[in-house]
Amino acid sequence: MKLKDCYNFHDFRTLARRRLPAPIYNYIDGAADDEKSHRRNTISFDACDLVPNVLRGVKDIDMSVTVMGQKLEMPIYCSPTALQRLFHHEGERAVASAAEKFGTMFGVSSLGTVSLQEVRKHSNPQVYQFYFHKDRGLNNAMMSDAKKAGVEVMMLTVDTITGGNRERDLRSGFSIPFSLSPAGILQFVLKPMWAFNYVTHEKFSLPQLDKYIDMDDGAVSISRYITEMLDPSLDWNDVEKMVSTWDGEFCLKGIMSVEDARKAVDIGCTGIVISNHGGRQLDGSRSPFDQLDEIVNAVGDKIDVIMDSGIQRGSHVLKALSLGAKAVGGGRFYLYPLAVAGQAGVERALELMRMEIERDMCLMGCNSIHDLSPENLRFR
Ligand code: LAC
Repeated sequence: MKLKDCYNFHDFRTLARRRLPAPIYNYIDGAADDEKSHRRNTISFDACDLVPNVLRGVKDIDMSVTVMGQKLEMPIYCSPTALQRLFHHEGERAVASAAEKFGTMFGVSSLGTVSLQEVRKHSNPQVYQFYFHKDRGLNNAMMSDAKKAGVEVMMLTVDTITGGNRERDLRSGFSIPFSLSPAGILQFVLKPMWAFNYVTHEKFSLPQLDKYIDMDDGAVSISRYITEMLDPSLDWNDVEKMVSTWDGEFCLKGIMSVEDARKAVDIGCTGIVISNHGGRQLDGSRSPFDQLDEIVNAVGDKIDVIMDSGIQRGSHVLKALSLGAKAVGGGRFYLYPLAVAGQAGVERALELMRMEIERDMCLMGCNSIHDLSPENLRFR
């Protein structure tokens, strides 16, 4: 199987499993506890069906959306995710370039492996995914780095104040800074192509954090990093101060309740991402798609409501937009392709997604995203 044989999420996932050392594949593919929320995230889209209209004279389909002041040529963007140069040596450079080519937004993570300043050279809108650390001085420095780099949207992740129970990572010993256990060395032998690329390219680093934190202080799992370094005492007052300091588009990622969505409006946020972190944090939490309708009904006219987690198909995107999401984010949908073929892989994933959205809009009788509404959906 090659890149050209990949037609959907599942194909990319299968090929990524073949190409990546198992601990790295399982870090991407895995989720918390029994991974129930992770599975539910995609299944939840089957709770309703699209109801098309016909004979609408469809032509010149426009799938662009405007969200948090940014015009996106397609309604799905590449969510910020950590450690991308481990998945493919091109890492964030590949994802930022592919997203730029498709005119969509790209998210840089605090745990990114290419510097914010470097990826900021691309012209597409960018969000900076912020982890609020215990060290308040570090938080201020990271905010000011993002401002100086010219990031358009600050996206504070709020569902990650302690690490999720990622049992696959516990079993494999996956850790940052990336290091190799004897079992890991065996993975090098088993996946020589990945190993060759890893050792012949720039050394692993976390440029958003390296200048502030001594990362050589022993390798820890991602979950332990989150638990030890991030601040569980973060509260609405802290965030209100951040919103005012940032003084620009500010979005909370990981909102799930109507009460919190209302608070986000009250403190001046311009966006919320309904998300359960791809099922990687609180297993048993409701899926974002199941929760979308009540949040849009409560605050959809006051703040841009976005959702992520579980999106694999163009039809999933159209269902979310029909319920009132302004745009959707996806992580694994571009991470497996990144692992498979770097920029070419991400471009193929975005192209397939763009074609699916366009084809489905055509079949739904929609010229523009504005033609979608809850009327297009029936819950079973
Ligand atoms: C994760 C964090 C780092 O889910 O976003 O692994």
